[in-house]
Amino acid sequence: MADGRLAVDPHAGLVATPDEDALGLPAGAFARLDEEADEEFYEPARLVYHIDQNAVVSLTALYRTVLPAGGAVLDLMSSWVSHLPPEVEYGTVIGHGMNAEELAANPRLTRRFVQNLNADPTLPLEDDSLDAATICVSIQYLQRPVAVLRELARALRPGAPLIVSFSNRCFWTKAVAVWRALDDSGHTKLVETYLTAAGFTDIAAHRLAVYIEDEQDPMYAVVGRAPPV
Ligand SMILES: C[S@@+](CC[C@H](N)C(=O)[O-])C[C@H]1O[C@@H](n2cnc3c(N)ncnc32)[C@H](O)[C@@H]1O
Repeated sequence: MADGRLAVDPHAGLVATPDEDALGLPAGAFARLDEEADEEFYEPARLVYHIDQNAVVSLTALYRTVLPAGGAVLDLMSSWVSHLPPEVEYGTVIGHGMNAEELAANPRLTRRFVQNLNADPTLPLEDDSLDAATICVSIQYLQRPVAVLRELARALRPGAPLIVSFSNRCFWTKAVAVWRALDDSGHTKLVETYLTAAGFTDIAAHRLAVYIEDEQDPMYAVVGRAPPV
């Protein structure tokens, strides 16, 4: 080149491609022990509770205070239950998951769609079309969590809440490595990091239920607000 600089970076290929969605985590952070297709793993319907009754009650109480009655709500990574307060009516409740039979058994849903978010994180939802969204005991299965949460930020109206909840139990072989490496407090920080990277604001963590060995599941939630325009 005329100015004497190299046209080709001699270090190309030695430095990892900058990827803001990788959050600076080591390679393999989003690998699972079981890399079988998610469609196979979620093929059988699981019409069970994944958390105990106390955790469900504590989550429903949070939903009662945060989710706007009459609004359009998305339950992402849903199943046959959405844990919504039974006495509150919402305008629409869109349920997404991996198993059509589970979603068909969920009486709260007014619309349903099945999509593997690890294969395609783009949500088939209009911009600014949601008043709230929830992800219950499922965030640990996302291999591209920031891409999915950025999609939620797009589909939520500015200032609308997203509630991400989790406990200490999961399908271990399907949880990403970084989740498996952390404890409850690490999970809280990780979810806060995901939400921040996706542009959410006013992020607050809630301890909804304390862990009592052999007696009670812990339950946590991180709430964020979709970014202003
Ligand atoms: C433990 S269940 C939780 C279901 C429900 N939210 C509840 O509270 O009972 C985990 C859910 O994560 C969802 N899920 C797991 N892997 C997924 C993927 N690759 N793409 C989309 N959803 C996925 C499935 O719908 C599955 O039902």
